[in-house]
Amino acid sequence: MIKGFIFDLDGVITDTAASHYTAWKKMSDEMGWDFDHKVNDKLRGISRMDSIQVILDHNTTSLSEEAKAELAAKKNDLYVASLENMTSEDYLPGAKELLIHLRTEGFSVALGSASKNAIKVLKQLNANAFFDVIGDGNSVSKSKPEPDIFLYGAEKLNLQPAECIVFEDAESGIDAAKAGGFYSVGIGPKERVGHADLRFDSMAEATLFEVKAHFKNLFS
Ligand code: G6P
Ligand code: MG
Repeated sequence: MIKGFIFDLDGVITDTAASHYTAWKKMSDEMGWDFDHKVNDKLRGISRMDSIQVILDHNTTSLSEEAKAELAAKKNDLYVASLENMTSEDYLPGAKELLIHLRTEGFSVALGSASKNAIKVLKQLNANAFFDVIGDGNSVSKSKPEPDIFLYGAEKLNLQPAECIVFEDAESGIDAAKAGGFYSVGIGPKERVGHADLRFDSMAEATLFEVKAHFKNLFS
């Protein structure tokens, strides 16, 4: 029986992918590196330091750990500054409605994000009240596609993975949900999240009604 939901943040609750893109792009331009939306898509769900590595690999270049950390910090300063413009109007369409619906129906809800800025994003959105547990980039050491962040959320909710549905927009996030034994809902194109148990193009279609209709044997 489904008792809980675990949500990724970036790309599910709010569209920070665009802000991450702008910050990585600025950094890449300064370094003379190639960076485009296709590379940015590969960074969905993965940690800041892993992201730097993906960009370096894409440009067939390498850097010392120290230089990587310095660039990651620089990118983060740009990203965090852009969060100042985020408000409670910046939920992805459908996301807030779903969170409200889950609250009214009494489901347990956790956040399972790789971001170390998740608390700040939730504050900007005024979204704290929707979550019983917050798992972010500081909660576990192994990031997606490892299942640790979702296992952390389920454990804190006192639920088994098979009692939870994970919402994710990242390929690595669906991999993580599957590896942990969770049911999964993918938000985005088939090429990215087609391996989820259920997929929607956007959060606007991801209503509790649709989710219950798909997993009907798992709801009482
Ligand atoms: C999310 C995003 C990634 C980002 C990661 C770390 O998973 O989808 O693109 O790299 O969080 O975010 P942070 O805010 O800690 O740099
Ligand atoms: Mg995401």
